[in-house]
Amino acid sequence: MDHTARRVNPGRLQLLLGAWSEGRDPLYRLLTDRLEQIVTAGLLDDGDRLPSERELARRLSVARGTVVRAYDELARRGRVTRTRGSGTNVRATPRPKRAEATPAATAAFVEPTWSLDLRIARPSMLESVADLLDRPMSVAPLMAGAEASDPAGLPQLRESIADLMTREGLSTSPDHILVTNGAQHGATLLAMQLVDRRAHVAVEEVTWPGFADTVGRIGGRIHRVPMTPTGIDLDALASLQQRVDLSFVALNPHHHNPTGTTMPDRRREELSNLTTRAQTLLVEDRVLARLSFNGRVPLPLAAHAAARQRPDLHVTLDSLTKVAWPGLRIGWLRATRATVQQLRTLRAITDFAPPMQPQLTALAFVDHLDQIVEERTTQLASRWTEIRDALDAAIPDAQIHHATGGIACWIRLPRHSGNHLAAKAATYGLTIPSGSDFGAPDDDQHIRLPLTIDSSELQTALERLQHAWRSLETSALGRAGGGDHQPHLNSHDRACHAGEPAT
Ligand SMILES: Cc1ncc(COP(=O)(O)O)c(C=O)c1O
Repeated sequence: MDHTARRVNPGRLQLLLGAWSEGRDPLYRLLTDRLEQIVTAGLLDDGDRLPSERELARRLSVARGTVVRAYDELARRGRVTRTRGSGTNVRATPRPKRAEATPAATAAFVEPTWSLDLRIARPSMLESVADLLDRPMSVAPLMAGAEASDPAGLPQLRESIADLMTREGLSTSPDHILVTNGAQHGATLLAMQLVDRRAHVAVEEVTWPGFADTVGRIGGRIHRVPMTPTGIDLDALASLQQRVDLSFVALNPHHHNPTGTTMPDRRREELSNLTTRAQTLLVEDRVLARLSFNGRVPLPLAAHAAARQRPDLHVTLDSLTKVAWPGLRIGWLRATRATVQQLRTLRAITDFAPPMQPQLTALAFVDHLDQIVEERTTQLASRWTEIRDALDAAIPDAQIHHATGGIACWIRLPRHSGNHLAAKAATYGLTIPSGSDFGAPDDDQHIRLPLTIDSSELQTALERLQHAWRSLETSALGRAGGGDHQPHLNSHDRACHAGEPAT
């Protein structure tokens, strides 16, 4: 059989098309966009012959003219060739290897198999981490004592973490440490302890949603403080402190997620002075602090001079999930002994104690942290450069925020909101967060790409982003000419956006 002339079964194509007609764009454009996604997602082979215009129109219960316009438009976009007498044939780029293993009919039912979900910056497995995970770990000697199920964590791990923090410039003893199930757990325990319905908490205006989510759920009020290119705006924070009695300020002052912003040392010191003077508790999220492309790890806020006078006003959250392995779910909280005791009690009534086995793994990770950090940062830094160099081809004139570390690339679009691009990208099989996922207004013009993506997926992501961008530009041009409807999210786009939050 001549492979290049394989006929696409109309029923199968109908399955692949799914709910293609939901949306306010003209039908032919909805059909064109969806067919283009199917081709770019590698669900049809190069040369495959699409059903005749009449046959597809009958299947989809639309006018033949709609299919004719869609096929013509696809030909204009270079996705098919149209030859009188031999029909409409797919012009596909070679399929990515992964897609070859996916039967197309299954992909039609389970769209996410071909949709690339980049909402969560999920670090990949590192050689050094895999190596440690493969080593046998003997639990037996540690199982006997009551300390094996201490709500504050395994004493050996707390000791190892305390040594690490001391080496990083913040003198710490094991009883300053509460082991948590990741930093989000630390944030939740703190909020449970300090927040009630009258409480006010300040965060950066655009930020990882962990604190806003947990404080909001308890009923407290979140205040978003404007940011400058060097971190939180201290004047705005000072004025907020005067107006509102804050329970705490929670910040991510280095390699900030999502913007990549880092506060210089001087400003960090000013920040600590400012909150200490106002007797406001300052919570530093250091989950990304070690992910510096240049290897320089900033001093913890709690180590600055003002903080040393009032350690009770400084809490530090940290975690191994971004640096080492997201599957581990081990982090910690550093505070005064009194605060750790209070949170230890709270922890005992929530999940009693952290599980033993992951703590042993964490112990091995902390012991080898320098090597893990080096491997991780080398990987993230090279991805950042790759994205920076390839971005202009996908979205001409987009601006990438300069970053010296972290897990994300923050991209400003030359026009259109990040929400509109994200919605369009979802129809091309790419789910990305936009500014509003991090608390920015709906018309914010940013999107975030994770640096945790692997190189081959990045290629696919950038291709889909390029298609989505072009399609958005074409729709905008159409509207400027008065020929089109306002863009809006169809049900598929909304489904893609309504799921988990970006992290
Ligand atoms: C800045 C920041 N802090 C904390 C977290 C949550 O960390 P963990 O996985 O340890 O709960 C994230 C996750 O994305 C993050 O980006």
